[in-house]
Amino acid sequence: MDRIKITGGNRLVGTIPISGAKNAALPLMIASLLTPDRLTLKNVPNLADVNLLARILRNHGVDLTIDGKRPGPAPHLGETFHLTARDIVDTTAPYEMVSRMRASFWVLGPLIARMGKAKVSLPGGCAIGTRPVDLHLTGLKALGAEIDIDAGYVVARAPKGLKGARIIFPKVSVGATHNVLMAAVMARGETLIENAAREPEVGDVADCLVKMGARIEGIGTSTLRIQGRDRLEGAVHTVLPDRIETGTFAFAVAATGGDVVLDGARRDLLDNALQVLEQTGATVTDTNNGIRVARNGAALEPVSVETQPFPGFPTDLQAQLMALMARAKGTSVIRETIFENRFMHVQELARLGADIQLHGDTATVKGVKSLRGAPVMATDLRASVSLVIAGLVADGDTMINRVYHLDRGFERLEEKLSRCGAAIERISAA
Ligand code: EPZ
Repeated sequence: MDRIKITGGNRLVGTIPISGAKNAALPLMIASLLTPDRLTLKNVPNLADVNLLARILRNHGVDLTIDGKRPGPAPHLGETFHLTARDIVDTTAPYEMVSRMRASFWVLGPLIARMGKAKVSLPGGCAIGTRPVDLHLTGLKALGAEIDIDAGYVVARAPKGLKGARIIFPKVSVGATHNVLMAAVMARGETLIENAAREPEVGDVADCLVKMGARIEGIGTSTLRIQGRDRLEGAVHTVLPDRIETGTFAFAVAATGGDVVLDGARRDLLDNALQVLEQTGATVTDTNNGIRVARNGAALEPVSVETQPFPGFPTDLQAQLMALMARAKGTSVIRETIFENRFMHVQELARLGADIQLHGDTATVKGVKSLRGAPVMATDLRASVSLVIAGLVADGDTMINRVYHLDRGFERLEEKLSRCGAAIERISAA
């Protein structure tokens, strides 16, 4: 397994291109199951999760081609995928694949909608909580799917097709909103989804579905009104920029006291997190095509934050904020309200000298003067990158083991950081 070695102490200065959003690219690829026509997705990031989902979709019968390199000055513009699900030859998504990536469970809704049946393994994914799928299943049942659980699989049928319904989610779920939305666009009649997730990635998928001929009102709000169609068409869509990658680099720049332009970033996708960053003493300004984050030599101010669904502070930036606050001038309080077990970075940050106390869902982070490099273990995607941030400011060397977690969600991480002056290198397994 590859490892990443970081020698801390360098300020980040320069420009970092922001990639397309992983958490939009994945459901957008899945949306290709809804039409026999070609769906073209631009700005797809080159990530392990994207490649795994490509395998899963090919197994269902999706033809996927990827454009070769193009000339031009924008190396961060991701790849262009052409996906065509002319014939769906297999409606089963097997355990071996779905257990490795939770988002692949979202094939369930589109498969039932188009084929009237699906058999999808219960999902896996990052171990950050129990992560049930009850909301997905209740939503799909409300649309008329008959669902059984058999030997670890969700077996769903809708022989006469799906029928629109009113669905009120008791809790905000990104995945359940994707799954039910992608089923409802092909259900007969009207579907109302209330308390829908408002995450920008949900809006991006809805925008793409509209280009494919779906009728959706209320995009970007918590109430989605959908008029089902018999058939969707092909479309061309560009994946929106990754707000979590943006926030991660923004926090890393602030941690190192650097000055970096995040090219292609959109402030409106992470306003809340950037406001928190400003409270810590960093400055965030708009540029022509992105945002600039800088922090001069002044100390980092502590903050109190709780994670919330969009537009609140994202759970996917909680670990990175904790790494930043590990060296603040005072005590920060960070409460995780979305996932019950998303604190695995705490003990790894402690190995670098961070002073963090955990009580239930709340972490109290007492800023320390300095961190000291150490060997650490990546436990999940966002936890891993919090160790990168800590490693960038720690004295001496930090060796991060199990970096495959990082490869799931950060494109060319070492290259992007080292171009801005970080001493970071990948040590490939022999
Ligand atoms: C998505 O996961 C993201 N994944 C996660 O990002 C992100 O952390 C999460 O949304 C919250 O923003 C992708 O987009 C691929 P949820 P998802 O359903 O859809 C509970 C990353 O690092 N719940 O919104 O799985 C659930 O347990 C990943 O990129 C139910 O109770 O999250 C959690 O407490 C990690 N029943 C809460 O809802 C259900 O049926 C929110 O989960 C579904 C969810």
